[in-house]
Amino acid sequence: MKWPAKAILIIVSLIILFAGYFYWEAYQLRKDYDVARIQNVNKRVPSHIEISVPLDSTLIARGKRLSQTLHCTYCHGDQLQGRETEERVGPNITKVRHQYSNAELVKAIRYGINKDGTAIGGDMPSSESYYHLNDTDTKALIAYIRSLPDLSNVDLPSTYGHTLSTTDLIRGGFAHVFLGWEPDVDEYIYSSPMPARPSDGDVIYGRYLAQTHCTRCHGEDLSGEDSYWQTADLAVGAGYSTHQFKTLLRQGKALGGREIGFMTKLAKGYLSHLTDSEIQAIHSYLKKRAGNYKGD
Ligand code: HEC
Ligand code: HEC
Repeated sequence: MKWPAKAILIIVSLIILFAGYFYWEAYQLRKDYDVARIQNVNKRVPSHIEISVPLDSTLIARGKRLSQTLHCTYCHGDQLQGRETEERVGPNITKVRHQYSNAELVKAIRYGINKDGTAIGGDMPSSESYYHLNDTDTKALIAYIRSLPDLSNVDLPSTYGHTLSTTDLIRGGFAHVFLGWEPDVDEYIYSSPMPARPSDGDVIYGRYLAQTHCTRCHGEDLSGEDSYWQTADLAVGAGYSTHQFKTLLRQGKALGGREIGFMTKLAKGYLSHLTDSEIQAIHSYLKKRAGNYKGD
């Protein structure tokens, strides 16, 4: 073998060796982290406590609308009967629900934990958005899930345990070994869900709606993201008039009639189910947040 070939072989072997090492490191970290996280959630919502969810029609209707505005339907299908796309398999909720107690559904929705205690993978946004859901809204979703007919003809399996991609693990291991990075379990001992209600007024309720509906892509503090989602600080929305803001959230048209990628799709299909007063509340909060609130 000539020396350049040898050198390449050595370099490639080293890269593979290191990648494997980083992967293994991150895999172990992830396991410990999942155990710690699940212990934390179990302290908060013990499975043996049954959470009562009345199947009344108002609560069910609210849950149905939330399944749309929180776009559960985008990943799990129009009636949560499951949906498979190139990106993910959203399991059939009308099927798996029979195995879940209400307490376990709370854990799945708010904290991203499967019935079997593993972390829900895919990109279900519990840790970004749904952990903010208050008790009433969480119960409304559960009431709706319980009320649905069995749509078990669609057989989309859960993909338990499919949590992080190989590249994520290698990257995490690299950061751990060289930069001392540790996953922060506390990050996921979510603060108590906010007990906000519509009667709390536009600014407080609007904040709740924004935290449950917009944080997934606009970032935890709504100041935009520069990662998978390339999104603006929602201060942009504060500059919209009431009418313009409604047009954005219902028709997906930004100022100047612009279509803005996934936001347009989300608005037309999912956020359009927000009521006028909910849109108004979000807008009031965004204006307050941006410091130019002129209201009550
Ligand atoms: C962006 C996509 C996405 C959204 C939005 C989403 N989910 Fe999920 N959800 C998933 C995926 C993917 C899984 C399966 C992941 C796994 O099993 O590792 C899942 C799993 C679940 C499970 C556990 C299912 C099982 O197999 O045991 C429940 C329950 C659930 N989701 C409910 C909801 C509800 C309710 C909402 C809305 C409030 C929602 N999801 C929104 C993608 C999503
Ligand atoms: C699933 C991802 C996603 C969610 C959830 C989401 N957005 Fe967006 N949003 C986007 C993307 C993508 C853009 C386009 C990039 C940009 O301009 O920030 C955008 C843009 C915007 C803009 C900028 C409009 C302009 O003038 O360019 C506003 C305002 C906005 N979103 C408001 C909201 C509000 C309010 C919510 C919650 C009710 C929300 N978004 C939820 C993905 C999302």
